[in-house]
Amino acid sequence: MNTINRRSFLAVAAAAPALSYLPRTQARPAQPGRGGPVCISSGNGIPAISKAMEMLRSGSDPLDAVVHGVKLIEDDPNDMSVGYGGIPNENGVVQLDSCVMHGPTHKAGAVAAIENIKNPAMVALKVCRRTDHVLLVGEGAKQFALAHGFKEEDLLTERTRKIWLKWKENLNPNDDWLDDDQHIGAPGNAPGNAGDLQSRAEALGLPFHYGTIHCSAIDANGDVGSCTTTSGLSYKIPGRVGDSPLIGAGNFCDNAVGAGGATGRGEAVIQSCGGFQVVQHMANGDDPTEACLKVLKWIADHTRRHDLLNSKGQPNFNVVMYALRKDGAYGSACMRRGSRARNFAVHNGTGEAHHEECSYLYG
Ligand code: GLY
Repeated sequence: MNTINRRSFLAVAAAAPALSYLPRTQARPAQPGRGGPVCISSGNGIPAISKAMEMLRSGSDPLDAVVHGVKLIEDDPNDMSVGYGGIPNENGVVQLDSCVMHGPTHKAGAVAAIENIKNPAMVALKVCRRTDHVLLVGEGAKQFALAHGFKEEDLLTERTRKIWLKWKENLNPNDDWLDDDQHIGAPGNAPGNAGDLQSRAEALGLPFHYGTIHCSAIDANGDVGSCTTTSGLSYKIPGRVGDSPLIGAGNFCDNAVGAGGATGRGEAVIQSCGGFQVVQHMANGDDPTEACLKVLKWIADHTRRHDLLNSKGQPNFNVVMYALRKDGAYGSACMRRGSRARNFAVHNGTGEAHHEECSYLYG
């Protein structure tokens, strides 16, 4: 069991660098966690944290544990948010993003817009361990993966190919694409003119998401590892990169403090340096849930585009933040009560991996 207690956690938190612009007024004394090993993830990560915990218990490095954990989700064709079977971009090509960060060495690795390689988190781990770089993109990332023995494969499943085709054929009622059942000339493709990508997809009953699994772990010594991996925004413009492969956005860790990560609208997380902010709030003394809520509030306060706001002036999209502190305390928060993604997964080193409800910014 981890020997970090409240006194020693506060000592490391006090020693950790803190940003002076972050508000301290609402900070309250950190409640001590129960120590490691602890592993948390987004709600789709129950198998991932179960695997990670198994590895932590047998002495694996926390970064190896989370990367092998998320690999199970990347390999799963039924999870359409990550890896094999992820929803493709608008050209029908699955482009994957991932980054990893290792607390003890403060090293990071990432790949963005990589194609035809099923396990981007594993490739990001290779970038972290085998290069002096942090981020490889596109064709370069693929060549790097192939050089390290990763196999090139088609990541589009029959299911996601059909979903993509249906999305494409309904983009515009006046285009040259016909629905399968309208090939004899029934009037127009429905609905075709819905506003943004999400409403277009949802009007068609098609999946739409920002995908993603975030997973972080501390081991029994309080060492931290964290990872985020995704197929990104459904039907995105080819080359679009979200927050998941960007250190400080979709993922960040500091071995003196803990880890922070995000799922949901990547553009908002990039523009808020969400993962970095979570860790800095914890370093300032906020408990993990409070740290997540402060980032969501920051995102809400900085969302200015009318098409991203509801009638109350609140963000109409979801972001979920995750926080795991070095002493084993953890938390998560989403933008709104009842959001589709409103659970996160926890393995606290005892019993089984389970879901817990995220806190929320708006009731
Ligand atoms: N959060 C995943 C993405 O926006 O790509």
